[in-house]
Amino acid sequence: MTATIIDGKAFAAMVRAQVAEHVARLKAEHGLTPGLAVVLVGEDPASEVYVRSKGKQTVEAGMASFEHKLPADTSEQELLSLVEKLNADPEVHGILVQLPLPSHLNSDLIINAIDPAKDVDGFHISNVGLLGTGQKSMVPCTPLGCLMLLRDHLGSLSGLNAVVVGRSNIVGKPMAQLLLGDSCTVTIAHSRTKDLPEVCRRADILVAAVGRPEMVKGDWVKPGATVIDVGINRIALGDKTKLVGDVDFASAVTVAGAITPVPGGVGPMTIACLLANTLTACCRANGLPEPTGLTA
Ligand code: GUN
Repeated sequence: MTATIIDGKAFAAMVRAQVAEHVARLKAEHGLTPGLAVVLVGEDPASEVYVRSKGKQTVEAGMASFEHKLPADTSEQELLSLVEKLNADPEVHGILVQLPLPSHLNSDLIINAIDPAKDVDGFHISNVGLLGTGQKSMVPCTPLGCLMLLRDHLGSLSGLNAVVVGRSNIVGKPMAQLLLGDSCTVTIAHSRTKDLPEVCRRADILVAAVGRPEMVKGDWVKPGATVIDVGINRIALGDKTKLVGDVDFASAVTVAGAITPVPGGVGPMTIACLLANTLTACCRANGLPEPTGLTA
């Protein structure tokens, strides 16, 4: 058997088109333009690539993009002042502070200074609490993207055994909450879990988000399971590099029922969901109906 390949690139393009359509309607009917502010501190090359891509896709969706690039030695007070200014700016509906921040800045302090209604990353402690108690919140983009792919592929997730490998605040924990919200039986596993392959083999839905290249092997996968690979790892291949996920694709594809590839799986969904969250934040801020199918 060979698994269905879940095309995240195509699905993300569809989400972006849906967002763009809704944005055009907001403009025509209400004179509103959703705006996303992205704050980058320092010169991390990978972060610069992400931020450029976010800005480009924001504009392509018809939204306003505000980029704030600050030097690596920016003080906490300077960054907090910018966040406060963006909180108060009516043209800004979403605020994203690119992580990781330089080590002299306290990320929790900065993230929790963002107005929760504008926290399109869903990292603010209020949004974490709202998600954990099943209330309306801003949902972290990568897990939201995974949920959209799973719902699209499986329909109802109710009653399925889901195993999330990875316990990060950005992916693992919110992913588990979302799967619980869709009535899965959820296990959060991680690199220290005893008998990890055995735990994974119980999963109807296996989400790998540990950041270890090709760790999840084909014989960890239950035949027919749906495998979502969140990993993006750059490994050396001769004198070149290659992107691989947290799943050993070659062996898993022969066992799984469906699997996301790397690249072209979960990756493109993250920015698509960021745009969806910015649109949702704009609708909520203006008391307008939210787009359907773009939130948890
Ligand atoms: N750095 C890598 N991924 C992310 C993300 O989703 N949000 C933020 N703010 N920073 C990141």
